[in-house]
Amino acid sequence: MIETVKTPGKFITLEGGDGSGKSTQAKQLAAFLEDQGKEVVLTREPGGAPGSDDIRQLILTGDPDRWDVIGETLLFYASRRNHLRLTIWPALAAGKWVISDRFADSTIAYQGYGNQMGVDEVRKIHDVTVGEFEPDLTYILDIDVKAGINRTLGRDHDEDRFERMDLSFHERTRQGFFQIAKENSHRCVIINSDRNIEVIQTEMRTILKDRYFG
Ligand code: ADP
Ligand code: TYD
Repeated sequence: MIETVKTPGKFITLEGGDGSGKSTQAKQLAAFLEDQGKEVVLTREPGGAPGSDDIRQLILTGDPDRWDVIGETLLFYASRRNHLRLTIWPALAAGKWVISDRFADSTIAYQGYGNQMGVDEVRKIHDVTVGEFEPDLTYILDIDVKAGINRTLGRDHDEDRFERMDLSFHERTRQGFFQIAKENSHRCVIINSDRNIEVIQTEMRTILKDRYFG
């Protein structure tokens, strides 16, 4: 009997500000990987697992001051823990490719930098919850803060707790993503997302091809 060698799955994350185009690009990237014969799990944070979706509702709806930064960071990590345990780790163990629309870099950027909890404080919770595990590849979709928020304004949803925070919060978050990219250059690529959807997707696919299908 010929044994098939299973290529291990990869964990790919999309990060960036609100309205930077993560969901749009994640869907197209999943379709591309499926065309390459990969089994793909497309997921998102906060959410992506039983329990995690309930926490999503708690964090993203209501007044901006509903939670303080420590409370919301603990909720993001509680949600992330189920996401890892019940969705991401089992999928990777089965050889699937996982694409997540946001992951832990969002907490470093939004809570650590944006909400000024401090990166070292977020890291303490990160280390207990996630440990050494990290994405294989992270796209950071970058766009001017106002332009990104403007793209989200037409959305008909009540999950706007962060979108309603002030521009300086979003600007600190954007700078946080730049810092994360600098410190994690082995896995992070910044993508200029102030271009049309197809151009961005082509660049993202080229990066994937060069890394994994060369
Ligand atoms: P995110 O998941 O980062 O919040 P979305 O993919 O939901 O972003 O995109 C937010 C809005 O902007 C959607 O209405 C989407 O159709 C639109 N959009 C996404 N990418 C682009 C782009 N490159 N140029 C113009 N509009 C875009
Ligand atoms: P998301 O649904 O991805 O929003 P958007 O499509 O607007 O980018 O994420 C919801 C919000 O949660 C978003 O404003 C970013 C915020 N967020 C954090 O503040 N910390 C985190 O760890 C995560 C995962 C998201």
